[in-house]
Amino acid sequence: MRIRTFLPAETPISTTLRSEPFQKLAQSIEDRTACVGVMGLGYVGLPLIHAFASAGHPTLGFDVDERKIEQLTAGKSYIGHLPDEMLTEMLDSKLFEPTSEMNRLEEADIILICVPTPLSESRDPDLRYVESTAEEIAKRLRPGQMIVLESTTYPGTTKDCVLPILEQSGLKVGEDFFLAYSPEREDPGNKDYTASRIPKVVGGHDEASATLAEAIYKNAVVDVIKVSSCEIAEACKILENTYRAVNIALVNELKMLYDRMGIDIWEVIDAAKTKPFGFQAFYPGPGLGGHCIPIDPFYLTWVARKNGCSTRFIELAGEINTSMPKYVISKAMEGLNHQGKAIRNSKICLLGVAYKKDVDDPRESPSFVLIDELLHFGADLSYSDPFVPKLPSMRNHNVPDLASEDLTPEFLASQDCVIIATDHTEVDYEMVVQYAPLVIDTRNATAKINLPKENVIKA
Ligand SMILES: NC(=O)c1ccc[n+]([C@@H]2O[C@H](COP(=O)([O-])OP(=O)(O)OC[C@H]3O[C@@H](n4cnc5c(N)ncnc54)[C@H](O)[C@@H]3O)[C@@H](O)[C@H]2O)c1
Repeated sequence: MRIRTFLPAETPISTTLRSEPFQKLAQSIEDRTACVGVMGLGYVGLPLIHAFASAGHPTLGFDVDERKIEQLTAGKSYIGHLPDEMLTEMLDSKLFEPTSEMNRLEEADIILICVPTPLSESRDPDLRYVESTAEEIAKRLRPGQMIVLESTTYPGTTKDCVLPILEQSGLKVGEDFFLAYSPEREDPGNKDYTASRIPKVVGGHDEASATLAEAIYKNAVVDVIKVSSCEIAEACKILENTYRAVNIALVNELKMLYDRMGIDIWEVIDAAKTKPFGFQAFYPGPGLGGHCIPIDPFYLTWVARKNGCSTRFIELAGEINTSMPKYVISKAMEGLNHQGKAIRNSKICLLGVAYKKDVDDPRESPSFVLIDELLHFGADLSYSDPFVPKLPSMRNHNVPDLASEDLTPEFLASQDCVIIATDHTEVDYEMVVQYAPLVIDTRNATAKINLPKENVIKA
């Protein structure tokens, strides 16, 4: 594996004015012998491991899921857009070792926490995974270790939730051990922005922690932005994601209005984005998906309530975005109605169940709300997604036991309606438009096709 260096060491950080644990850790960061442990080897943790191993740091990957550890040890990736070769290269270089043995946390000089931060049933922050991870670390915390929380969460989590657990070790933060927050900005499937090429925001609990956190990330990523506290870094991540959620809600609302007026929202956005300042393009869709955008704003609304404030803007955006699947269904009803059909007993194929194009991640995908609705109305449902061979079971949804259909002219012609919910690149949309009697396009995937499109409805 080619070891990459981003930033040459400037002035050495291991000054004699600091505690001994600081100096030791600083030195091992400088000479890249510091072992980087990552807790949680999912969509965020694995690319991060790769960034540090590529920078020449030995890495240890921890996960409670034994099957994942077995697969990683065998050099097999369980994430579609991360190739097996990436793993085998790291394993061959001896800079990566996956393990489920939490006793080995002691071996890591730096521990990055990348575990899930979902919502509870009542849509409040569920910090169970962060807490249990911090407890595992606290049991073995030793002087000279640095802990960095990367999971997305509300401002205050590192200080109010992680720190008290770590302090149960009896060690002192800023002197014996170090604590920081650095939000993950992973964009799964985006080849232009792999983990090492995305600038990273870093906030330390104290100056010593901030200095060390800045130094370790400088070894592995293209740019590091040090901010004045963990809370600023936490709030920054939530701002980034809320900004997306609110802007997507805006274009979703405009989509419905413009449709009524016979105006194509996609063409409007393409025109607006030619403005070289003051406008950033966001696109409408069948609803929000993924681990972040549908969830993170609720972390903020929860902490706002705790602080006696309301976040009406964010709540409204959530309302609009979650109503999108119903809008898509109404468009399908309209299209079928024109053909003298109802959803009941119609053969309807959902094209795409991953939450975004070219990834295999179905979490929070609006496709599962569409499935609920279509089954509720009695559709004869099928689906096709080259990245998701079988429908996974999902919390809060009754998912039927279905396998992905191959898209052939015969299959498409046998359907009453095809709903494009995810615009995977490898799908032949020309064939879809040519053979399906009715196409509901929620992603503008059919825009560039040079065929008559009387059977296509944008939704
Ligand atoms: N997926 C993204 O694109 C993305 C982007 C930015 C931020 N984030 C945030 O990063 C965090 C992780 O997200 P993800 O998508 O990688 O989740 P994921 O579900 O893909 O991976 C999390 C991993 O943590 C493991 N895990 C759970 N409890 C553990 C424990 N106690 N010890 C060790 N491992 C444990 C799980 O088995 C799983 O493999 C979340 O807070 C998420 O909001 C995700």
